[in-house]
Amino acid sequence: MSTLQKKPAYVVAVVGATGAVGSEMIHLLEERKFPVERLVPLASDRSMGRQVTFGGAELDVVALHPKALASVDIALFSAGGSVSAEYAPMAAAAGTLVIDNSSTFRMEPDVPLVVPEVNSATAAGWRRRGMIANPNCSTIQLTVVLKPLHEAAGLTRVVVATYQATSGAGGRAMDEMLAQIRAVFAGEEPENHIFPHPIAFNCLPQIDRFLDNGYTKEEWKVIEESKKILGLPDLCVTATAVRVPVFIGHSEAVNVSLERPLSADEARAFLRVAPGVIVEDDPATQTYPQARRVAGSDAVYVGRIRQDVSQPRGLDFWVVADNLRKGAALNAVQIAEIVTARYL
Ligand code: A2P
Repeated sequence: MSTLQKKPAYVVAVVGATGAVGSEMIHLLEERKFPVERLVPLASDRSMGRQVTFGGAELDVVALHPKALASVDIALFSAGGSVSAEYAPMAAAAGTLVIDNSSTFRMEPDVPLVVPEVNSATAAGWRRRGMIANPNCSTIQLTVVLKPLHEAAGLTRVVVATYQATSGAGGRAMDEMLAQIRAVFAGEEPENHIFPHPIAFNCLPQIDRFLDNGYTKEEWKVIEESKKILGLPDLCVTATAVRVPVFIGHSEAVNVSLERPLSADEARAFLRVAPGVIVEDDPATQTYPQARRVAGSDAVYVGRIRQDVSQPRGLDFWVVADNLRKGAALNAVQIAEIVTARYL
């Protein structure tokens, strides 16, 4: 049971400080003026000698080892599942508030899985395990839009296809795509090491490994995590997760079935006032959310809202967000803000 108490400022560690999400976390702690007494940037031995910039100072990256987390108040983990599995419980047991971006603990019943715009009150339970799980990137942006629609008309079924950027697989995955693009332009065969096939000029209907039921693990995360976050264990959800050759910004084509009728105009009106959502939807001016444009912004964008002609109470729409910010780092920092403001 963590004894962390409210303080004017906190010692904050970022585990995975040199990574695509970790560097965004550091950026956001500064941008949002989170009360940081001292930042501890942690990464692997490979990053020794590297520095990160925070608050105008250059800080040496420190190699992760058990003692590196001693006297840390809040640790934001984004260094992969195996690092979280080894270090997060250790840090939590020592009294650190852990906010973990990996999928390792997300479905454990006593670990809150939090999207602040959707279920911030569940963060109250963080002391049970000393940690809060940060959901999957595609799940976060989906639930931010599903919540107001559920409140408006009751969701019964959700069908989602994702179009996920390479940054979701980390900085090295972005580098791999860039190298492949260059190879194709040079007339060479693109090499793949991180992705199962070349991603340049391609779409891969595989993110993470395959499960015995034919879904990928990424699809299963979207299905199970959405139900947990929305508090709707019986909601019917199915997903197809696709990696696309985009650097930053996940897009989603979503179809929902509703209990009560809801027109596209009514849905737009509910979504316009929903927290964290921006409606960009004007066919007359060819206006709709695009991955290229959302990079660097905090909101979840929704457009192409229309009634589904194939069923009596259904809607189709298109959801886009910056997967490194709202899909990962921003959501984690928002969780830290909520816990320190309300639950210490
Ligand atoms: P490093 O750069 O030293 O490898 P990304 O998601 O962009 O691939 O970044 C992953 C982050 O997790 C990086 O900061 C990486 O550090 C860090 N990381 C990976 N493995 C370990 C590990 N075993 N111990 C500590 N940090 C790790």
